[in-house]
Amino acid sequence: MSSTTTSPNAPASADSQAPGHETNAQGLLARLKWRYATKKMDATRKVAADKVQRIVEAARLAPTSSGLQPFEIFVVTNDAVREKIKAIAWNQAQVTDGSHLLVFAAWDNYTADRINAMFDLTNKVRGFKNEGWENYRAMLLNSYPQRDAEVNFAHAARQAYIGLGAALVAAAYEEVDSVPMEGFDPAALDQILDLRARGLRSVAILPLGYRDASGDWLVHLEKVRRPIDQFVTEV
Ligand SMILES: Cc1cc2nc3c(=O)[nH]c(=O)nc-3n(C[C@H](O)[C@H](O)[C@H](O)COP(=O)(O)O)c2cc1C
Repeated sequence: MSSTTTSPNAPASADSQAPGHETNAQGLLARLKWRYATKKMDATRKVAADKVQRIVEAARLAPTSSGLQPFEIFVVTNDAVREKIKAIAWNQAQVTDGSHLLVFAAWDNYTADRINAMFDLTNKVRGFKNEGWENYRAMLLNSYPQRDAEVNFAHAARQAYIGLGAALVAAAYEEVDSVPMEGFDPAALDQILDLRARGLRSVAILPLGYRDASGDWLVHLEKVRRPIDQFVTEV
């Protein structure tokens, strides 16, 4: 780890390059202050493939309840498809001005097959079977598939949001701009990407790109968060 630091109290920067190139915790906080919900992206700039891959990998590494990983990511670069998505996403220009659009799609339900597949994968990767783990599998099999599909989808969607959060942080770390979006018609997006046929439903989207500071009304505005004493209770 580098010992170079940037003060965590440094003001948020509107520059296209995040402050510091530290790999320590203060460097991460500085980049999280630099990150903002980018309103205007530079349509001429493209995020490098290796950066996109690391951002997606951060989402894949996100923890999920019981490790079921009940969501998938679609990386959309096709211009025609992104135009269609923009039309059902309040015409938000970042969808097409960014270079990549990540679509977070959660399982529409928990089925025995899906639960078994993840438990079997765990046993295969780790090379052994464990009684406690198998009992846990049986417990999930006896509860999740019997629940209402909407309850299961809502649970899966919450896991997708953890992945979204990880991707957001990873994008900031990579000095890539992004904007998380719920402002779209999920049923229409499911149709565009044919998600229902794959047992998936769209949850959130994340355009990736680079800020066009000259055309962005938000870039120079102060980041607004409640003060720490109204956010944290120490017990
Ligand atoms: C789940 C979620 C959905 C959001 N949907 C949109 C959206 O559709 N369009 C948009 O411009 N911003 C959207 N935002 C951005 C928020 O408005 C923004 O993150 C918040 O105001 C805090 O500002 P900051 O991200 O710049 O710090 C969304 C954020 C989250 C976390």
